[in-house]
Amino acid sequence: MEYQINKICCIGAGYVGGPTMAVISDQCPEIEVNVVDLNVSRVAAWNSNDLSSLPVFEPGLADIISRRRGVNLFFSCDVEKNIALADMIFISVNTPIKTSGIGAGMASDLKWVESSTRQILKHAKGKTIVVEKSTLPVKTAKTIKSILESNIDNLTNSFSILSNPEFLAEGTAINDLTNPDRVLIGGEDNYAINALINIYKNWVPNEKIITTNLWSSELSKLSANAFLAQRISSINSISAICETTGSNINDVSKAIGMDRRIGSEFLKAGPGFGGSCFKKDILNLVYLCQYYGLNEVAKYWQSVVNINSWQKERISKIIVKNLFGTISGKKIGIFGFSFKANTNDTRESPAIEICKALLEEGAILQIYDPKVSHDSIKRELPANDELERPQNDKCGHWIYSTTSLESAKESDAIIILTDWDEFRNYNWKKIYEVMRSPSWIFDTRNIIKNPNHIKSLGFNLWQLGIN
Ligand code: UDX
Ligand code: UDX
Repeated sequence: MEYQINKICCIGAGYVGGPTMAVISDQCPEIEVNVVDLNVSRVAAWNSNDLSSLPVFEPGLADIISRRRGVNLFFSCDVEKNIALADMIFISVNTPIKTSGIGAGMASDLKWVESSTRQILKHAKGKTIVVEKSTLPVKTAKTIKSILESNIDNLTNSFSILSNPEFLAEGTAINDLTNPDRVLIGGEDNYAINALINIYKNWVPNEKIITTNLWSSELSKLSANAFLAQRISSINSISAICETTGSNINDVSKAIGMDRRIGSEFLKAGPGFGGSCFKKDILNLVYLCQYYGLNEVAKYWQSVVNINSWQKERISKIIVKNLFGTISGKKIGIFGFSFKANTNDTRESPAIEICKALLEEGAILQIYDPKVSHDSIKRELPANDELERPQNDKCGHWIYSTTSLESAKESDAIIILTDWDEFRNYNWKKIYEVMRSPSWIFDTRNIIKNPNHIKSLGFNLWQLGIN
């Protein structure tokens, strides 16, 4: 007998839960999808009539929300009721790095996964399939399983646990979900596995749906992110050699990417990888390796994170050096604060560490990003009155700019930190006119394709892996 899923509940309406459930509801109109979250204002934003204020900005997402919301897609804080009604529950809560205790700074904090699991145990009715969506350390399913199996007296309820890691990248989430490279399902219970396969079969070709045991599925997700991050650290390390040898990182990327065994994607040098997953997942892998005594493996993956930090530090130093060794009291325009283009997400954005380093040197940062709000930047950077500086010294502070021209005004330098498309199409002459001379552009994403034109306007230009 096939297990028919009629109602899905997803715990966590974040960057993963929101878009994933939107696509499932769109592809499976017969299934009712309820996304629940503890955060009242986040739920209100998902339910807002103003689709430009959804909590997550993703190209294509607002269209799906307008088609499905109130039809078979619902956002609420009613966690208990929706757990009770669901045949299948996705756990998409956040799993940040632990800040204290055993594994602090490395291991994932699973308290939200644990509390969600306990809620499921308490409120679920009948047979329920629980799907891990959040990226989790290997063997987390074991924790979930032991909690769900702890109530042995209740014979009417039963649970099956599946791992179904999400491979979407922010900024392309809807496309990644609609046309995935693969869907990975880990589990032991064929009945539950088939129920999830039947959902994906609505839009994903059979050959792209692969099944493994729980642990392989969990480890595949961590490994995929570690491999992707490692490619970025590799190309970023080469960018530094390019600068000292007169090679050009764009040419090197192209040349190595044409080798089919290497492939051309994910070879863009930049200011370092950001985002909620890469650093966290590698550190998780490192922690796991240390736990099992695989110290050489741990060191290997740790170096991927180390190079990433170093890239940000070295860029900050290059900026200071070129601005005559001091930026105290100098205005600097920051173009881009999100961790990559097409998202309003700032988690682990390289802009954070670079801005902090410049603030410590006394710069006045005028920060502009097409999608990141003032509040989000406030959460990432120290408040101006917390910055260490001599009394009444106005140096070392930041302000939020609502346009790029405002950000450039009276500045000595523009630092391009995110690869937003709009930066590629700017009228740099206009920008030059509002700046102070000598004016610099530090292009950490190599978005400027015609450096001679920029230089002819009067700018000094530094591009990553080129100069
Ligand atoms: C999260 C994880 O951080 C990541 O490891 C994983 O790969 C995918 O899920 P994301 O969706 O980007 O990523 O996180 P976030 O945007 O923070 O959303 C999580 C949501 O869960 C938040 O809205 C939070 O309020 C909610 N939540 C958290 C609950 O509803 N209940 C809880 O108990 C804890
Ligand atoms: C990543 C994985 O790609 C995705 O599969 C997983 O589910 C979650 O983590 P995400 O963090 O959203 O997705 O973005 P991604 O496109 O992978 O970019 C991560 C970081 O690497 C960004 O800061 C980006 O700017 C940087 N990057 C990416 C580069 O610097 N160069 C590249 O060539 C690609």
